Amino acid sequence: SDVTPLLALNWKMNKTPSEARAWATELAGTFTGQGAELAVMAPAIDLPGVAEALRGSRVAYGAQDVSAHASGAYTGEISAAMLLDVGASYAIVGHSERRAYHAETDEKVAAKTRAALQAGLVPIVCVGEELPVREAGEHVAFTLNSLRGSLEGVDVRDARALVIAYEPVWAIGTGKTATADDAEEMASAIRGELRRSLGDVADRVRVLYGGSVKPANIAEICGKANVNGALVGGASLELDSVLGMAGAL
Ligand code: G3H
Repeated sequence: SDVTPLLALNWKMNKTPSEARAWATELAGTFTGQGAELAVMAPAIDLPGVAEALRGSRVAYGAQDVSAHASGAYTGEISAAMLLDVGASYAIVGHSERRAYHAETDEKVAAKTRAALQAGLVPIVCVGEELPVREAGEHVAFTLNSLRGSLEGVDVRDARALVIAYEPVWAIGTGKTATADDAEEMASAIRGELRRSLGDVADRVRVLYGGSVKPANIAEICGKANVNGALVGGASLELDSVLGMAGAL
């Protein structure tokens, strides 16, 4: 497809605000903007410093989560409007770690997806199966079902901005990568589901792969027809590997 690939860096709970600012300053000085769009998904408290460091560069940034609510009595939550105010463009929604450790259901993820889209923040909606589901051969049905639930109530008019990330849970942080063909199988199934639910807009939606992506495997995975980039955890923490991945896309 003709969409610009996205390389989204998920730092997870790494880098203090001062470390993040220093790192982003170095990135801004070295990233020349070849091919892919690059976005840093930082801890929310790191974002103001990252924003300052990346001002005027071609690197975007965002958060790793966003509240389903617009404002009010939700202690500890961060709204889409707050993220937009510091210049964030993206928020990861429904990452498997949030689903596993913070009891986020598809329903909750859908509420966050809608809140982000309505505010003008691009959600990177994560879906993916655990190992027993794949071993039972039910990974496609499971993941598409989770995708439908995670997009429940999304307005087709907002959907153009969507990003979906397929992250098989068994490949996250394990060094075990899905094969490029596995990634394409699911990305193409996701594209089909989006076409059924959203129509032509589905061709504008970027579908990412995530799970042990690194400089050595990114080109093959993202070379597949329906894979429009990657969501990277471990390999996103070091500048050299980020530049290597950006260069390979
Ligand atoms: O959001 C990123 C994914 O959880 C992948 O993490 O690249 O460390 O396997 P990983």
